[in-house]
Amino acid sequence: MSPLPSPDHNAIMSQFAALVDDGFLLLDRQFNIVMANIMATRYLGENLIGMAIDDVLVSPQLDHDLDVITEHRQSTEMVASSAKDDRRRFRVRLRAIDEHLIGVLVMDMTLQHNLEKVRRDFVANVSHELRSPLTSLIGFIETMQSPMPIDDATRARFLSIMDEEARRMSRLINDLLSLSRVETEEHISPTQTIAVDKLVRSAMMALSNRAQKVNRTIFFRDKTGRGKNNDDDIMILGVHDEMMEVFHNLLDNAIKYGFNNTDITVEMTAPDAHHIAFTVINQGEGIEEKHLPRLTERFYRADKSRSRQMGGTGLGLAIVKHIVNRHRGTIEITSEIGGQTRFTITLPLA
Ligand SMILES: Nc1ncnc2c1ncn2[C@@H]1O[C@H](COP(=O)(O)OP(=O)(O)OP(=O)(O)O)[C@@H](O)[C@H]1O
Ligand SMILES: [Mg+2]
Repeated sequence: MSPLPSPDHNAIMSQFAALVDDGFLLLDRQFNIVMANIMATRYLGENLIGMAIDDVLVSPQLDHDLDVITEHRQSTEMVASSAKDDRRRFRVRLRAIDEHLIGVLVMDMTLQHNLEKVRRDFVANVSHELRSPLTSLIGFIETMQSPMPIDDATRARFLSIMDEEARRMSRLINDLLSLSRVETEEHISPTQTIAVDKLVRSAMMALSNRAQKVNRTIFFRDKTGRGKNNDDDIMILGVHDEMMEVFHNLLDNAIKYGFNNTDITVEMTAPDAHHIAFTVINQGEGIEEKHLPRLTERFYRADKSRSRQMGGTGLGLAIVKHIVNRHRGTIEITSEIGGQTRFTITLPLA
């Protein structure tokens, strides 16, 4: 039997590291990187060779653990973030391989970390949103139960506030259920064809009474450039009730956040041969630019007190976004302070 060729440890290590789905680094005893696999460069940046580990990974535990490994040859584990991008989170395992080298395994847990945070924020938000109407309800119930006599007018006023608070909680629960439904169905493409121009007009009809109460009219403007007498329906693949909810929410916002005595317009345009777009336009105080990218997040409000006072839950646009995603559409928001606010929904034609 021929003897085995003497192993080149570094070559073997590199070959092996290329197979690993996680980041893998080798450090010398000065804690400088002497080898990095592809995943490590993807996680931590290019040109890692020669860099000190603490210029690449950030963790309060790092220095301590490196000492432990040097002295005791144990393996240690910690949570660290990337020095280049502190949104990336890793689980990092360190182990002395021999007296010259330390192996570092870098496992990405950014997604889990973010999901955890989303879940925690969500629970905190829901609790907070439910607590304020509940506290108010309990307060009024206690007052009404107290032996102090209450006149009829006061009783009526209390009941009306309690009614409003209970309805707000009920709206919140309905919106949460709606959101959870559209989130689970987001990946399922609709298969029904619906006449979206008709649908938008009936959403306008449904809200016209509310608009009239604040002396506002909702107008429809067809700017597709198709002939005036062309009354063919515009068809998309869609879920009727969900699309109704989209335009209901956008028009509801236009009424709530626009100035009284100004008109609301829904413009229909054809950006290209395969898409149709609807823009809901209102005049109002507008939305500061810094808020625009976050408006479709759950519970995000540009003007918190205003939205609460209007009975809003801050879930309307989050629902809109998920429904539009499901329909493979896009949403674009522009706003001028004290001028026009425009929400444009673009949808692929059937
Ligand atoms: N047309 C608009 N003009 C000005 N601000 C708007 C407009 N539409 C939405 N916003 C802002 O965006 C925020 C989020 O809107 P969203 O519809 O998600 O929640 P909401 O209206 O507060 O509550 P809900 O729709 O659940 O009743 C609002 O609180 C408001 O600050
Ligand atoms: Mg709303």
